[in-house]
Amino acid sequence: MRLDGKVALVTGSSQGIGQGIAIRLAAEGASVIINYRSHPEGAEETLAKVEASGGKCYMAQCPKNPGYAIKADTGMVEDVQRLVMESVEHFGKLDILVNNAGIEKHAPFWDVTESDYDAVLNVNLKGVFFATQAMVRHLIATKRPGKIINISSVHEELPFPNFTAYCTSKGGMKMLTRNLAVELGSLGITINNVAPGAIETPINTKLLNDPEKLGALLKNIPLGRLGQPQDVAALVAFLASDDANYITGTTFFADGGLLWNYQEQ
Ligand code: BGC
Repeated sequence: MRLDGKVALVTGSSQGIGQGIAIRLAAEGASVIINYRSHPEGAEETLAKVEASGGKCYMAQCPKNPGYAIKADTGMVEDVQRLVMESVEHFGKLDILVNNAGIEKHAPFWDVTESDYDAVLNVNLKGVFFATQAMVRHLIATKRPGKIINISSVHEELPFPNFTAYCTSKGGMKMLTRNLAVELGSLGITINNVAPGAIETPINTKLLNDPEKLGALLKNIPLGRLGQPQDVAALVAFLASDDANYITGTTFFADGGLLWNYQEQ
């Protein structure tokens, strides 16, 4: 399998896209650290599916079970640093970091509060920055290459009115990736973004329950459906594999054609 013997950490993997990624990476042979903040029951569900998928770590000190869940708030620097350290302690190493955890808050620009701005930027950008830094320090210390994959959004390019803090974080993530591809290249560390469009996950619960908004959104998606977590996870599995060794600093969209959809009636 493509990820045999690899160890991956997937932040925010108790639900949605992160859960799909954790399960897919395990199915490709990886051992997976599942991370959650407030949904232990979701993390348990991911863990059960990861164990059933049968990933395996081949290092001498590796535990038998291919999955392990760690609680940490990725919006807090101390927590992300501990998350990376505990992952390394548990499986003996890390090869792949998937910065997936993300949140969004809806409000007109003029009503955005400082605490909502901080909540979004802390998880979506600051946490990614420092999780990546901790991962890179581990790879440097162990003199090994590694792969970092950030789950961005079509909104690293596309405006999304009433979600300005979210778009700011995803635009920042785009430049974080471009910059680090250059800075980390000589260390054999690659970094890429996967940018989903509208995926059927809990982040979209409100939208999914609003037939009018959902209908309008579907009209903007050339492939005519919302994406599923597996649609994103398949791309992540490729980028995490040796097949992607020469790819860095790039964003890949999994959006059913949403981003570049333009038509005149
Ligand atoms: C957002 C969703 C939105 C989708 C398409 C995602 O990044 O999280 O709320 O529906 O982009 O606009």
